[in-house]
Amino acid sequence: MNGVSGVTGFADGLGDARRAVSAYFGFHEPEQRSTRDPEGGDLLDDIGDTVHGADLPVLDRTRRTAPPETDAFDRPAALAAIEADTEAIGFTMACEEPVGRLLRALAAAKPGGRLLELGTGTGAGTAWLLAGMDGQTTLDTLDHDPEALAVARRHHGGDPRVTIHEADGGSWLADRVGAPGYDLVFADTWPGKYTHRDEALSLVRRGGFYVVDDLDRQPEGAVPDDHRSAVDALVADLESRTGWAVLPLLGWSCGVLVLVRT
Ligand SMILES: C[S@@+](CC[C@H](N)C(=O)[O-])C[C@H]1O[C@@H](n2cnc3c(N)ncnc32)[C@H](O)[C@@H]1O
Repeated sequence: MNGVSGVTGFADGLGDARRAVSAYFGFHEPEQRSTRDPEGGDLLDDIGDTVHGADLPVLDRTRRTAPPETDAFDRPAALAAIEADTEAIGFTMACEEPVGRLLRALAAAKPGGRLLELGTGTGAGTAWLLAGMDGQTTLDTLDHDPEALAVARRHHGGDPRVTIHEADGGSWLADRVGAPGYDLVFADTWPGKYTHRDEALSLVRRGGFYVVDDLDRQPEGAVPDDHRSAVDALVADLESRTGWAVLPLLGWSCGVLVLVRT
């Protein structure tokens, strides 16, 4: 049976697939194995061996340590210290971890891109965005609160990919109409979300993301109780716009909408 060329090709394909899986998960191949059964069985035995585990590669656990920029929970390495400083100044509006993970993934989808965060806070979302960005991607992030920004600067100021602006978001956006666009806008403050929304959306390039969160619940003390109607109006407006593919993640984490410019 080993001499049936078409079937041998299939077995080689299995080997390729196994090597690809091994490389992805950090396994190593203990040796280069032949796809031919050493006991002279037929190819179905080979496949059976693999399925039942006799032929699986050995897991090298020393290669499964997290890369240096993340902690043991696959969070940005800077995040624990940012959280400590955030608590120390009583800032309660940092983004939730699932949203951070989403931001990291979206940032990773835009290698070499330009990203914008409206509302830096203490730099938690910034940390997630930076964790997804490659070396060529840049991030502008802005806030009007110098105390929160001091924390963000302490942790991100040395990263050449990020520019931290102390500014009022409304004026900053109004000044940028017609300026070069962004591949991701995380609108995490009033301007760009509840006001100046057209200006923020106009900055998103084709294929780019516009992200808003806190649509189901807001950070403690961030908004008045009667804020629900403003959130409903925001969601209705974003979902009704043409030229955007809407990914509604309401009911997930703190409630998120992702719009992709088509
Ligand atoms: C929800 S927090 C941002 C959290 C941050 N993006 C994160 O992921 O941790 C909102 C921020 O918007 C800022 N902010 C509120 N009004 C603003 C304005 N008009 N211009 C700029 N920043 C503003 C606040 O100071 C606050 O830091």
